[in-house]
Amino acid sequence: MTKTLTIDGKTIPFQDGQTIIEAATAAGVYIPHLCHHPEFTPHGSCKLCSVKVNGRVCSACTFPAAEGQDVINNSQELNDDRQKITQMLFVEGNHFCPSCEKTGNCQLQAVAYHLNMLDDHFPLFFHNRNVDASHSDVLIDHNRCIFCTLCVRASIEQDGKNVFAIAGRGINKHLAVNSATGLLKDSDLDKNDKAAHICPTGAILIKRTGYQVPIGQRLYDHQEIDAVSLAHETEQRHGE
Ligand code: SF4
Ligand code: FES
Repeated sequence: MTKTLTIDGKTIPFQDGQTIIEAATAAGVYIPHLCHHPEFTPHGSCKLCSVKVNGRVCSACTFPAAEGQDVINNSQELNDDRQKITQMLFVEGNHFCPSCEKTGNCQLQAVAYHLNMLDDHFPLFFHNRNVDASHSDVLIDHNRCIFCTLCVRASIEQDGKNVFAIAGRGINKHLAVNSATGLLKDSDLDKNDKAAHICPTGAILIKRTGYQVPIGQRLYDHQEIDAVSLAHETEQRHGE
């Protein structure tokens, strides 16, 4: 017999082993997320996917789906909290969209639009983290890293390498590059690695490609992130 749970009152089926976000996306329900990616082990760090399960707040990307769960996803309360989380991510780094070449293709920017974020609300930190342009093909602007660990997971799980790690705590947290000098040029990273293409923000960029797609014709210029995300995951399931 098919197992089911409800999300915002809608009954959806799930399979054993699925997380709530996997069951939701399979049923065409978008749950905002940043550190979740269907190809990689869940990390549960950004908390944007927070939902209420039987009254308790849980991360949908790590919480297993179970029979009879009553999940609240699209509520004013949760969307307000998600907006605050997104505002904190913006002020913690330097995310100045008009001067970033990822604008229009950036998931952080797109999710902020989706959540109707109209300002930063909190005071900006104005970090002065370094930009590592040492690699011939790939650039890291550490000021735009949101510590989602997708590059870390992609490097280990798909590229079979170990190029990135998150080091430090609190305000000193940073993306570390695994090389003798700490510079990207001395690491194993290749521009064709998944880790070089997975970043949801403009922190990891491929050099000499920035404006190949003009502003106005980019991924999120004409579609919201919920539609893009659901279409992408449907494509992936059909490709399996
Ligand atoms: S560089 Fe990009 S992919 Fe890597 S942890 Fe930072 S935001 Fe995530
Ligand atoms: S997407 Fe679930 S915690 Fe980040």
